[in-house]
Amino acid sequence: MTPENREPKMQLTVLIDAEEIQNRVKELGSRITNDYKDKQLHLICILKGACLFLADLIRHLPADITLDFMALSSYNEGRHSSGEVRIIKDLDCTIQGREVLIVEDILDTGLTLDYLSRCLWARGPKSLNICTLLSKPSRRIKEVPATYVGFEIPDEFVVGYGLDYAERYRNLSTISIMKTNETSSSY
Ligand code: IMP
Ligand code: MG
Repeated sequence: MTPENREPKMQLTVLIDAEEIQNRVKELGSRITNDYKDKQLHLICILKGACLFLADLIRHLPADITLDFMALSSYNEGRHSSGEVRIIKDLDCTIQGREVLIVEDILDTGLTLDYLSRCLWARGPKSLNICTLLSKPSRRIKEVPATYVGFEIPDEFVVGYGLDYAERYRNLSTISIMKTNETSSSY
């Protein structure tokens, strides 16, 4: 077998195009702006997947928001969740007494955001809400209340607009379903 034959073949099918994403992000921005008027909003972006979403979202928010970043790991390379969540990069600033909004790429089993919410509530924020670009309700293991959801999507593995497969495809401006010739349904 040649090395090329060992590489799984990736097939990408657009699920949400760039214009739909941008329109929805703008709508979410308006809702958040309205809900947090007269409040000092502090956003926590979950790296790396939510970075494109955050960058677009904050351009629809008032100028005086503040930002922080956190990196977690619930997936190893590829598609399989270990079920274990680790903090790889913690926050730089305290969230005590602050109006906090978590910005995440996708709510899948809910294990990551369930863990993260409990961890952040223990640090004494005034409020803590979740904004996720995508949600796969049919995959949920832990119920996590997300106040802002961009799109509910079917049980498919998606890449693009920040979401990766083995660190690739984050730079696509669309969200696409990825199938390989190795696996097509369970991940
Ligand atoms: P959860 O803990 O199962 O909710 O998974 C959350 C994390 O899994 C997300 O932040 C993503 O990093 C990753 N993830 C879940 N589904 C997908 C997908 O379809 N494509 C890429 N990453 C995914
Ligand atoms: Mg993520």
